[in-house]
Amino acid sequence: MNSLIVETKNLGFSYGKSGKDIQGMDLRVPQGSIYGFLGPNGSGKSTTIRLILGLLKKHEGEVAMFGAPMESRTRLTNLSKVGTLIENPSLYGHLSALENLRIAAKYRGKITEERIFEVLEIVKLAHVGSKKVKAFSLGMKQRLGLAIALLSNPELLILDEPTNGLDPKGIIEMRTLIKELNTKYGTTVFVSSHLLSEIEKTCSHVGIIRDGKMLYQDTVTALKNAKGDQLQVALEVDKFIDALAVLETQGVKLVENEDGMLLVEIGCKSDIATLIDGLRTKDVAVYQVVIKNSLEDLFLTLTEN
Ligand SMILES: Nc1ncnc2c1ncn2[C@@H]1O[C@H](COP(=O)(O)OP(=O)(O)OP(=O)(O)O)[C@@H](O)[C@H]1O
Ligand SMILES: [Mg+2]
Repeated sequence: MNSLIVETKNLGFSYGKSGKDIQGMDLRVPQGSIYGFLGPNGSGKSTTIRLILGLLKKHEGEVAMFGAPMESRTRLTNLSKVGTLIENPSLYGHLSALENLRIAAKYRGKITEERIFEVLEIVKLAHVGSKKVKAFSLGMKQRLGLAIALLSNPELLILDEPTNGLDPKGIIEMRTLIKELNTKYGTTVFVSSHLLSEIEKTCSHVGIIRDGKMLYQDTVTALKNAKGDQLQVALEVDKFIDALAVLETQGVKLVENEDGMLLVEIGCKSDIATLIDGLRTKDVAVYQVVIKNSLEDLFLTLTEN
């Protein structure tokens, strides 16, 4: 699992002159992995995907796919090995699933009728192949979009928030499919999401971004361990000296005090409650509690919903 299917180095891009929307992005997607590309809304997931695919022109850095740099000479060869689902799939509602697949197959060329039935089977829509797509649920449409992406038997699948808008059943079906494609056919999957829980359930690897920058990239197992690390919390209190005494009796480590805030180190989130209880019993008012650890702080935004 050492070779990288996608690798970017110092990737940079900006929509306008004002700021950098993607900065110094080093992505490493190992062959055979399910790579979760995680970040809150507006963090740059879709933009990065467009840059990787060459749909947007990068301003800085390098992109390589299947070990070859993405340049005009190699772009089409590289892309022929990639299946994408990057927006809601454009489907013809008045046509059946099979007819939609046949049209998509025509654009791609060299797709057999047998393969069309095969992909329909893979996404578990074989029983509704002749049904008009306008009668499909969002989850079914999304799976048909995936079937289209699978037509040319890609080595790499790039999915931009494939579970967006789906109900819990639809989410589970999509998650199961992604895993199945990976284990059964060895497809490398690059999937974006703004939900940490989703990535933890599906992926082997994770890259966490915010404001166009990579904050963390490793295996999901390593991420789970890292989450247990020490937390830094800033507290705003009214009685500084009394607060320090409470910290001492509770054995909480003071990192520094800045602008009327106490920066302390604790073991886990439940220690925050204990600390506040301790401060309250000594009549210290707590005005503000801020988790400073950027990864932990990020996890909070990524776990909402
Ligand atoms: N076409 C565009 N023109 C100008 N700015 C854009 C454009 N598309 C995105 N942006 C800006 O670039 C940044 C990254 O957006 P992007 O869509 O890549 O984020 P995202 O992580 O995919 O978000 P979401 O979870 O909402 O899909 C945001 O600040 C966004 O406002
Ligand atoms: Mg997006």
